[in-house]
Amino acid sequence: MLEGHVAVPGDKSISHRAVLIGALCDGAVRVSGFGRSADTEATIEAVRALGVDVDEHDVDTLTIHGAGLRGLREPSGSIDCGNAGTLMRLLPGILAGQRGRFELVGDESLSARPMERVAEPLRRMGACVETTDGHAPLVVEGRPLNALDYELPVPSAQVKSAVLLAGLFAEGRTTVVEPVPTRDHTERLLERAGARVTRRPQSVSVDTADELGLDELEIPGDFSSAAPFLVAAALVPGSTLTVHGVGLNPRRRGLLDVLERMGARVAIYNRRLVGGEPAGDVEMRASELVGATVSPAEVPSLIDELPLLALAACQAHGDTVVRGAGELRLKESDRIEGVVEELRRIGGHIRATRDGFRVRGVPTRLRGGIVDSRGDHRLTMLGAVAGLSSQEGVELRRPEAVGVSFPGFFEVVRQLAPDALHYPPAT
Ligand code: S3P
Repeated sequence: MLEGHVAVPGDKSISHRAVLIGALCDGAVRVSGFGRSADTEATIEAVRALGVDVDEHDVDTLTIHGAGLRGLREPSGSIDCGNAGTLMRLLPGILAGQRGRFELVGDESLSARPMERVAEPLRRMGACVETTDGHAPLVVEGRPLNALDYELPVPSAQVKSAVLLAGLFAEGRTTVVEPVPTRDHTERLLERAGARVTRRPQSVSVDTADELGLDELEIPGDFSSAAPFLVAAALVPGSTLTVHGVGLNPRRRGLLDVLERMGARVAIYNRRLVGGEPAGDVEMRASELVGATVSPAEVPSLIDELPLLALAACQAHGDTVVRGAGELRLKESDRIEGVVEELRRIGGHIRATRDGFRVRGVPTRLRGGIVDSRGDHRLTMLGAVAGLSSQEGVELRRPEAVGVSFPGFFEVVRQLAPDALHYPPAT
């Protein structure tokens, strides 16, 4: 059983935005609770390449010496976004308003992901953005921008954010309409930094900005990094686990809402605001779960947690259906195929659909066996939780992928379940 109290690193989505928006501020921005990972380090390196000084005081505290809204410099070479989709999709929104020519490259997985979704609206604003057959490498040339009214064709916070960031440089008011709400960290942070942001139930607008400023920013724990431990506690009989200081933005905590519907015993203590984001301490107790239906409108609020939901559903009474999650096929790996194949290998009754999956719950622990992360950090965490909750345990292949979002993941696993790690991973 899993028992005790843990904390997780700062939110990855907010950490990327803190560095990118910090780079546009006038003066220094001190960031605490920064979620250090391979992805967010790529963002620090990217702004450094653009001429911004970043002091790293310790693992989770930084000072970003903002260069001002239009103060970024053309780097001598290309900017390496590594595996970080958020970096590669948000940065063009900023670069479109700078002077110069910028080339963005990524690793093999990132270079296979669609980039026209950001290039297209930015071009409509007057930017010059070239993709390579719709993918990275990407070339952005700064131009005078005009405001845009844009309805998101896919529910993507990354696309919304790229357009809003470009909107800071555009003459007039830029509006993004989102039929399905996606995470709103960019809007919250821009508002804190002094931008004029107007929010309506299905849209958000930003006006052209003269300057941004943020003295300090505290980042709450990453809900997506807390989720593996919360699911493990829900599944391993006898567990009671509290994850402290977790971001609980309503547009991110969909997994908790669905687990509660499934009968999970969740309690939230010390609700507070951290850096303008709702946060709290989340306690999860093991319980019997029943299947659930996840609607397309809910999907963005748990998009990165759907692999873990699939695992929980395998052990629930009754069926679980997830629809409207075709975006999962376009993540760091095809997560519909990956989740279905890996969970089937360890005894799960799950099958893929075009835009989601169906699970036949069997209220007993999965058998266990081999799980391959396929080089995807979210599938590493899925395999580890399956290992903790299965009968025979899991031999995890390519565990090092976890460093993309949560390099200390296995230390927390070891802290909670000292005997669980038989194959110490090389992270
Ligand atoms: C993110 C948005 C989501 C999410 C990703 C991080 C962000 O992607 O899956 O892990 O930080 O804006 P999409 O915008 O592609 O939905």
